[in-house]
Amino acid sequence: MTVHFIGAGPGAADLITLRGRDLIASSPVCLYAGSLVPQALLAHCPPGARIVNTAPLSLDEIMAEISTAHGAGQDVARLHSGDLSVWSAMGEQLRRLRALNIPYDVTPGVPSFAAAAAALATELTLPGLTQSVVLTRTSGRATAMPAAENLPAFAATGATLAIHLSVHVLDKVVADLTPHYGPDCPVAVVWRATWPDERIVRATLATLQTAIGAEMERTALILVGPALAAEGFEESRLYAGDYDRRFRPVGTDPRFPDAT
Ligand SMILES: C[S@@+](CC[C@H](N)C(=O)[O-])C[C@H]1O[C@@H](n2cnc3c(N)ncnc32)[C@H](O)[C@@H]1O
Repeated sequence: MTVHFIGAGPGAADLITLRGRDLIASSPVCLYAGSLVPQALLAHCPPGARIVNTAPLSLDEIMAEISTAHGAGQDVARLHSGDLSVWSAMGEQLRRLRALNIPYDVTPGVPSFAAAAAALATELTLPGLTQSVVLTRTSGRATAMPAAENLPAFAATGATLAIHLSVHVLDKVVADLTPHYGPDCPVAVVWRATWPDERIVRATLATLQTAIGAEMERTALILVGPALAAEGFEESRLYAGDYDRRFRPVGTDPRFPDAT
């Protein structure tokens, strides 16, 4: 018996991995994390599967479901939205499973920042402009931010920021970022990326709040940084015709003469 933690992806039902889909199909128990996991994925559960929405459950109640499945020798498909490596509450579940000696494995999923970047058809790291993406959030009712992890500190790097769980405090986000990026810095907000009601607003830090209006939906990602609207960036050296590399030796004295 194994508990399979599966990244369910950002919303569209076909953005789960084949491995994730097959694990759902072979698990007699499916625990899924509420409204951000698309219901359509539950169609992969085998006939007669026990399917439980864990949104209203406490950690103890979730563990009780898993312990019951463990006692019956039944695999569990444990679905969380996006990828499991960020804001999934997987860590605390794995710790309990280790204490109970219950086996588990983890299958990655498409994270929402990647889905939002795809919706914008944007590369978040552009040569000569920015080479880092910061996945972050602001403090919430349930989760305080560590003191050093604040938006001005991240903004000081000039990297592309992917700000989660924060569209309800947009005015504060804009106020924190503007001194570092400037009012003309491009920003995009993507609501419910890959869902049928996906919505995108592109603006600058100065125009964002007016562009958005009174939008109340909270499942949104804020992407900020010069890469979001850049055209004048450098081309990658990797693909330059004169760049001598292992897989494309160039010139009379290539650096990797024997490489194939
Ligand atoms: C609890 S976190 C889950 C993050 C998830 N594990 C991931 O890999 O992206 C929920 C937040 O992720 C972002 N998010 C999740 N799905 C999204 C989507 N389809 N479109 C835009 N933002 C999304 C929003 O900022 C939302 O408030």
